[in-house]
Amino acid sequence: MNLKDKTVVITGAGGGIGASMAHGFASKGANIVLSDIRPENMEKVAAELRGMGVQAHCVVGDIAKEASAEQLMAEAVSKTGRLDVAVLNAGILRDGLLVRVDKETGKVKGKLSLEQWQSVIDVNLTGVFLTGREAAVQMIETKSHGAIITIASVSMHGNPGQTNYSAAKAGVASMTKLWAQELSRYRIRVAGIAPGFIKTDMIMKDMKADALAKWEAMIPIGRLGEPREIADSVIFIAENDLVNGVILEISGGVKV
Ligand SMILES: NC(=O)c1ccc[n+]([C@@H]2O[C@H](COP(=O)([O-])OP(=O)(O)OC[C@H]3O[C@@H](n4cnc5c(N)ncnc54)[C@H](O)[C@@H]3O)[C@@H](O)[C@H]2O)c1
Repeated sequence: MNLKDKTVVITGAGGGIGASMAHGFASKGANIVLSDIRPENMEKVAAELRGMGVQAHCVVGDIAKEASAEQLMAEAVSKTGRLDVAVLNAGILRDGLLVRVDKETGKVKGKLSLEQWQSVIDVNLTGVFLTGREAAVQMIETKSHGAIITIASVSMHGNPGQTNYSAAKAGVASMTKLWAQELSRYRIRVAGIAPGFIKTDMIMKDMKADALAKWEAMIPIGRLGEPREIADSVIFIAENDLVNGVILEISGGVKV
């Protein structure tokens, strides 16, 4: 797909990887519809994109809410007249062990809460389901032969401390592959990226120097990824019509 003058919706566009993708797609001449639950950063990113000579529209909303997901994809079409690429990127972390045991007494002293489980499932799985479904609705009704691009994670293989996140991302990977089959009759492609550890607020916010060094030692290339490296990979999927029904692991070789 040639991205010039196409419409790209990006969820979670006020943050690290999403904001980087917005810049990347804009540099290809695409008009961007940014969506985030937090308006502040998104408005700043949108102003930068307009400075690059493309349209940038902001839609504030929670992807886990059905009405917000419907409104987002409908507004993309009402504001720009089309929908070519939907990048389902918004996500959150609420890490914790399934159970924590007191070493002295052998008694369980903590559990992964239902709130921790549900909040991550709501955003990272239900939110992707809702926004993916609504992107498909708009693409089919406008006869756009577009692409839906999901953001999973290498944690989809099962990363200790991330029961909620790993389960949601495995679900995202599964939906990506099955949607590619269901939507092929409408000439809509669906593919995704499973990033490794990427330098964004999501993981850097509370990172201490020794923890960072430990993480870097786990990554075969010896460093975390940059948001731009994921953005470039998403743009590769959007531009290359042969990529369909797969999740590309872009992780520097990390094995979870
Ligand atoms: N950073 C990493 O190492 C890494 C690794 C693998 C996968 N990922 C995935 O990449 C995606 C982007 O992550 P990031 O690192 O840029 O995170 P980030 O926290 O920097 O940005 C995420 C953005 O999503 C927004 N958001 C959160 N909940 C939302 C909701 N309910 N509705 C709408 N917007 C919402 C946030 O406000 C934020 O702007 C996520 O799906 C994440 O799981 C990140």
